[in-house]
Amino acid sequence: MVISKHLLGLANTPREEITLILKTAQYFKEVLSRPIPKVPTLRGKTIVNLFFENSTRTRISFELAEKRLSADTVNFSAMGSSVAKGESLRDTVRNIEAMKIDTVVIRHHAAGAPHLLANWVEAGVINAGDGQHEHPTQALLDLMTLRDKFGALENLKVVLVGDIQHSRVARSNIHGLKKMGAKVGVCAPATLLPRDFKEAFGEDVHVFSNIDDALRWAQVLNVLRLQLERMRSGLFPSLREYAACFGLDRARVEAAKKEVVIMHPGPINRGVELSSDLADSEYSLIIDQVTNGVAVRMAVLYLKCGGDLEIANGGS
Ligand code: CP
Repeated sequence: MVISKHLLGLANTPREEITLILKTAQYFKEVLSRPIPKVPTLRGKTIVNLFFENSTRTRISFELAEKRLSADTVNFSAMGSSVAKGESLRDTVRNIEAMKIDTVVIRHHAAGAPHLLANWVEAGVINAGDGQHEHPTQALLDLMTLRDKFGALENLKVVLVGDIQHSRVARSNIHGLKKMGAKVGVCAPATLLPRDFKEAFGEDVHVFSNIDDALRWAQVLNVLRLQLERMRSGLFPSLREYAACFGLDRARVEAAKKEVVIMHPGPINRGVELSSDLADSEYSLIIDQVTNGVAVRMAVLYLKCGGDLEIANGGS
């Protein structure tokens, strides 16, 4: 299998590559459970983390993954850099590349920024979230968490709930889940669903406008953050009304009288899309998602930075 040095999104990532990343991540999960959770695999490689948007989970887990693989890492945030003086993305990255780097991990508020970068530089480019477009490593860690829980993804019924319109997590999850054979649904108010949704994602994605119907159908509800910072006003009457119609809490889940698990990419608006009693409950896989984020990012970096396929093929 030929592995691209870039990971720009899951829309263009073949199923076999997703399978390989998940298998490799299982190997690194075992590495992370060792007393010394570190391997020399990427010694001599230099990775730059370019964050033009805020992040807690993605940024820390990429940094940890790089350190666990023994890569040299440099962290860049737009605040405090020459971007604040007006330097362009292209100039910023070409100057960084001139210092001899192998891979760039980028989070940017503009959809398509990682794709532009991949045309401008020789280094590999890993998308850590671009605007409303894709967040491939989040979807990969979600897939890993579901495979750990259910054993297989084929025919698993997963509903993404809430702010689909503004969600790169939803887009990457839909692409990834469909490629892996899961059955996918979305549940959102009409104002938070893209107008061309069926054209973009296919007629086979179920659309629910009622959260209780979604709960009856699904084995997994992946609840999305309401991205208030990306919204113009008037998409729903109030946060209270949104919580009443689309929010999930323990009482609502238990009323469905069935087994279901709850996921959330974080950060959570507690009491809006998800109540604290449910987020911290036995139904929740949220902390497992965060834990798996390090192993998945190790696998992506390992495969994209030229790691041979020995680990993925069963070697050690
Ligand atoms: N899930 C996610 O992308 O979280 P951060 O914004 O904290 O990285």
